[in-house]
Amino acid sequence: MSTKNIVEMRNIVKRFGSVVALRGVDFYVRENEVVGLVGDNGAGKSTLVKILFGIHAPDEGEIIIKGMKFKKLTPKLAYELGIVLIHQERTLCTNHPIWRNIFMGREITNKLGFLRIDDMKKIAYESLSQLELTRMPVETPVKYLSGGYQQGVQISRALVFEADLVILDEPTVALSLAETQRVLEYVNELKKKGKSAVFISHNIYHVYPVADRFVILDKGRVVAEFYKENLTPEDLTEIMISIARTGSVPEKYKELNLYRKSQLT
Ligand SMILES: Nc1ncnc2c1ncn2[C@@H]1O[C@H](COP(=O)(O)OP(=O)(O)OP(=O)(O)O)[C@@H](O)[C@H]1O
Ligand SMILES: [Mg+2]
Repeated sequence: MSTKNIVEMRNIVKRFGSVVALRGVDFYVRENEVVGLVGDNGAGKSTLVKILFGIHAPDEGEIIIKGMKFKKLTPKLAYELGIVLIHQERTLCTNHPIWRNIFMGREITNKLGFLRIDDMKKIAYESLSQLELTRMPVETPVKYLSGGYQQGVQISRALVFEADLVILDEPTVALSLAETQRVLEYVNELKKKGKSAVFISHNIYHVYPVADRFVILDKGRVVAEFYKENLTPEDLTEIMISIARTGSVPEKYKELNLYRKSQLT
C-alpha cells in the first residue's frame, strides 16, 4: 500500500434542511487501500460517499482528487476521475443483458456511430471471467441473475471502466452467505489489481476481512480510525458498541485511534 492519497475530503459539512448529516468530516483513501467505512444507521456514511461521487454537493469543505481541488463533483466528473459508486439501491437496468449493462453510457461505437456489439460482448466476457462470472452467457438479462451475481456485474463494470476507486455501499445487505463471499472476493480482486475501495457495511464480519483501515462515523462525525492489524473483529465490535452508547472509544483502544492522534491532538 502506498502513502499517496487517491482522494481526500476536508472538513465536509452537509445539511438536509434542519438535519446536519455531516459535521466537518475529514476522510481520505490511499492508493491500493480498502477502507471500511462503518457506523450506526444515519451516521452519514452514504451521504459521505454520495458527495464523493457527486450525487450531493457539500455545504462546506473541499474534495481533492489526484491533486485537483473541487468544491463539488458530478457523477460524470467522478467517473472521469476514475471513481465508481456501487449503490445500496441497485443501479443496473435489469431488462438489459449483462454485456449491455457493463457498457451502459460508455458504449463502444465505430466511426459511423454503430455499436460494436461483438467487441463489447468479448470485453464483457473477459472482464467477467476475471471474476469467474461466466456461468451465465453475457446475453442473459440481468433480471435473471441472483443478487450476488448482479453485484459481480456492477464490479465488472467498474473493472472494464478501469476505475481507480470503487465505492461499495452495503453491497452485501440482501445477499446469501455464498453471494456475500463472492462479493468479498471481488473486493480482494480489486485490491490485487492495485485499485482502491471504500466498503460500507453494518456487518463487521463482512467488512473486516477486506479492509485495511476502518473509519468509524457517528452522528455526522468521524470518531475513530484504526488499522486492521491493530484490532480483531471482536475489538472492532466492542468499539462500535461503545461509540453507539457513549459516543467515545473505550479507554484501552484510545492509543490505537489514528483519528484522535492525527486530527484531534
Ligand atoms: N436526501 C436526503 N434528504 C434528507 N435527509 C437525508 C437525505 N439523505 C440522508 N439524510 C439524512 O442524513 C443522515 C445521514 O444519512 P445517511 O444515509 O448518510 O446515513 P448512513 O450512515 O448511510 O445510514 P444507513 O447505515 O442507515 O445506510 C440521516 O439523518 C438521514 O436521515
Ligand atoms: Mg447508508
